[in-house]
Amino acid sequence: MTELIVGERFVLSSYPFGAGAFGEVFRVQDLQRPDDHDPVMKRLNDESAGHPFHFSRFRREIRTMASVEHVNVMPVIAYDLDDPLGPWLVSPFADGGNLADYITLHGPLSPDDSLKILRDVAAGVDYIHTRAILHRDLSPGNVLLLNGHWVISDFGLAHVSEQPVSFQTSYSVTGYGTTDFCSPEQKQSLASATALSDVYSLGKLFQYMQTGASPAHEPGSDLPLRFEIRKATATSPQDRYGSPALFVDGVVAAIHPAPRDPESVSDMAEQYAEDLSESSALPTSDTAAMLGWLVDLDIKKVGERDAFIDVMNQVTGNHFERLTKVDRERAMTALSRFEEAVLDADRGFNHADQPARVFAAAATGNTDATIRKIAVRALARIGGANNRWFCLDRLQEIFARPAADELVSAMVDGLKESGEVRWVFQDNSRLEQLPNPLRGRFRALLKG
Ligand SMILES: Nc1ncnc2c1ncn2[C@@H]1O[C@H](COP(=O)(O)OP(=O)(O)O)[C@@H](O)[C@H]1O
Ligand SMILES: [Mg+2]
Repeated sequence: MTELIVGERFVLSSYPFGAGAFGEVFRVQDLQRPDDHDPVMKRLNDESAGHPFHFSRFRREIRTMASVEHVNVMPVIAYDLDDPLGPWLVSPFADGGNLADYITLHGPLSPDDSLKILRDVAAGVDYIHTRAILHRDLSPGNVLLLNGHWVISDFGLAHVSEQPVSFQTSYSVTGYGTTDFCSPEQKQSLASATALSDVYSLGKLFQYMQTGASPAHEPGSDLPLRFEIRKATATSPQDRYGSPALFVDGVVAAIHPAPRDPESVSDMAEQYAEDLSESSALPTSDTAAMLGWLVDLDIKKVGERDAFIDVMNQVTGNHFERLTKVDRERAMTALSRFEEAVLDADRGFNHADQPARVFAAAATGNTDATIRKIAVRALARIGGANNRWFCLDRLQEIFARPAADELVSAMVDGLKESGEVRWVFQDNSRLEQLPNPLRGRFRALLKG
């Protein structure tokens, strides 16, 4: 390749630094602004240049990009639709690279860091939607970091409508977007894409930011914002957030919940306590909502702590099993916060019994080692703090059950962490009744 000046202004470097299926991107020197960072020219590759379909699609891409202006959309410095050498488009060089490069460099991002990116990208997508444009190819290679702002780029699949975007009708081009980021309806046919298909892709982008992996599957149960991601990427479009901005709002509410008014907290607590006492199994969606609500409560505030205790007091073994199935992480958070809340509340010894029943039910209802440890620790601490023998009896029942090695260790750890070993075995006969190896391990703990 020899040096080439395009549009009497841009000097092409010899080799493209990026290439997609149809296009190539080059750093170019701008003879009109030699001091600027060399911008980027996008052109069709030689093969696609001779192809009428790609030719006219690229021209449309250029027209679309040139028709919009927003801080979160890649700007256009210059373009020519009719250059004899083929249409071209020049944009500033995004020195931060694309989102895929960024994630490769920084690894999976925290919820707050990915929210920052989501805000930018969503603002750009909301803006083009107001201009009746669908992007239809939001993917890590098409989101770029330019002067500290994330911008959407590559309008190769974008569709401009005469009508507001949500009333899309027929349109068809080949290629349907980037697989793992593309909504099911858009995979069926590009023409079925609506603004909600872009919301889906944003959800997948958001998942990708936090996992650093291709979002081929639903987000795992350990991803903090999985509920918001699942909603954005719901199979049926009407179940998704109604717009990019609403998706952002949902994420913001999940990360930084608004302060609650005390009256609504106690009303909710009353409602959930009633639901739990009336039913041994809540519907999954209610269970998830209740867990979310519970772990968002601030147990350092008296009113919220009381609400939290009132609800947790109604949890049975069945409920708890359900809670762990819906969201194991939040269920465990709720259980260990329950321990703190009861200890902080210091409501007196006769308020220890109901929580003790709950911890005992949680411990015996499953074979999860972490839950067993929390329950044993909580029973010992709450029992010790109130000198409540009811708690000792519950502990004794738990210890007496046959247990795998992992659970034995969990119970030893729990008791050790409680700092109440001596109180628990003040009556030596309790220790003597226990099966080995637990008896031996506890005896060692007592001596140590
Ligand atoms: N203005 C730019 N600044 C920096 N890199 C860019 C720019 N435009 C494109 N690129 C890089 O080239 C890649 C391909 O560009 P893109 O417009 O997405 O073309 P394609 O249609 O081939 O996917 C992008 O993923 C990005 O890494
Ligand atoms: Mg691209």
